Amino acid sequence: MSHGKSFAILAALLLVGTAAFAWTERTAEATEIVVYATPTCGCCSAWVEHLQENGFEVEVVHQDDLSAIRREHGLPPELMSCHMGIVEGFAIEGHVPASTVQRLVAERPAVLGIAAPGMPMGSPGMEHPDGITQQFEVYSWDASGATEIFETIN
Ligand code: CU
Ligand code: CU
Repeated sequence: MSHGKSFAILAALLLVGTAAFAWTERTAEATEIVVYATPTCGCCSAWVEHLQENGFEVEVVHQDDLSAIRREHGLPPELMSCHMGIVEGFAIEGHVPASTVQRLVAERPAVLGIAAPGMPMGSPGMEHPDGITQQFEVYSWDASGATEIFETIN
């Protein structure tokens, strides 16, 4: 084997190794989310715990009034709930399951965010002591204010 050839093979191996290393580094990193909530909100803390249990790295910002952050992310008033999380530029309003948030950041649709309006019984952070649950919808909204069902949670 000529020197040139073996060098080329070595360089190729190095490149593959570096790419594989970078890939593992990326996937090992937890998804970061900043959650805006009022300081006295109990179900908000329960939702934060649900995110942490599912691999999110959560920073909580307590604010008495969430209207500024909601306005900034164009949340349609009918989708309002109790807290807003910001993850990779997307807004997450209310008790959206962690798996649905993961789907959003993986698929990256052309929306501003997703929301579980109100306080759906049995949703993450809204667990009923008797285990009662209700089916609910997670909606997406875009810059024009148009909403659409993103996922139905049973
Ligand atoms: Cu809540
Ligand atoms: Cu909340």
